Amino acid sequence: MDMHIPLGGKELSLAVFVSGSGTNLQALIDRAESGQLRAKIEVVVSDRADAYGIERAKRHGIPAFVVNYADYINRCATRAEAYRAAEMEILEILERFEVDYVCLAGFMRLVSPSFLQCFRDGLVYRVLNIHPALLPSFPGMHGYEDTFSYGCKWGGVTVHFVDEGEDTGPIIAQAVYPIWPDDTIEVVRQRGLSLEYELYAQVVNWIASGFVRAIKKGRRTICHVTDPKYSLIIRNLVEKAMNACSVH
Ligand code: GRF
Repeated sequence: MDMHIPLGGKELSLAVFVSGSGTNLQALIDRAESGQLRAKIEVVVSDRADAYGIERAKRHGIPAFVVNYADYINRCATRAEAYRAAEMEILEILERFEVDYVCLAGFMRLVSPSFLQCFRDGLVYRVLNIHPALLPSFPGMHGYEDTFSYGCKWGGVTVHFVDEGEDTGPIIAQAVYPIWPDDTIEVVRQRGLSLEYELYAQVVNWIASGFVRAIKKGRRTICHVTDPKYSLIIRNLVEKAMNACSVH
C-alpha cells in the first residue's frame, strides 16, 4: 500500500515541543518569519518551566505553555500515570489551536502510543522528531556524544516520523557532516546543529508540498521524498549548513 501524506499544497500549522535551549525552534521561527518555511508555528509546549525555548516563543509572539512533567511525576503513583496526565494537559492545550503536525525539537520525553493515536494518518503519525545522529545508529539522548566517542568519521542528523519506539520511526531525510581528526565534541555538535536547522525546515517544506510518501514494506513503513530536486536540495543544504557553521 502506498500512502500519500495528504497535506500537499497547504501551509502547515505546527506545534513545537521543546525541553531546553530551543535553537531548533529558533531556526524554524526565523525561517517562518523570513518566508522560507511553508508552515506557521501556532503554539510551543515545554515540559520544563526553565526551558529557554519558551522565552524564544514569547519573544516572537507565539503562545507558549509549560506542562510540568516533574510535578505530575511527584504527584502520581506511576510514571505512566504521570505521563498520561501530562499528555492530557498537552492535548487540551492543542485543542485550542488547529495543529496539523507536532514537531519535537529537543523534547526530552517519550510520547505515549495513546498520544500518537491522536495524530494517526494512515501509516504514520503526524509527529516529527529531529535526532542528532544517523539513525538507526545512536538512538537515545546523546547522539553527538555517542557518534564522537565511537570514533565515527562522519556524523549525521535524521528527521523521522515518531512511532511507539525510541527514535525508531520511519526516516524522512538524513544529512551528514565530516568529523576531522582534531575535532572536539563541541565542534561536532556545532556542525551537526547547523545541519539540523536546515534539514528540519526542509522536511517541513517537503511535507507541506506533498512530497513525502509512506509505503509498507513487509512489517516496516518506509518514507520517500518525491521531490525531483531531492539530491540537489540535500547537497545544497549541507553546503549551506557547513558555511553557516563557524567550524569547518
Ligand atoms: C538537538 O540536538 C536535537 O536534535 C536533540 O536535542 C537537541 C535540542 O537542541 N533532540 P535545541 O534545544 O534545539 O537547541
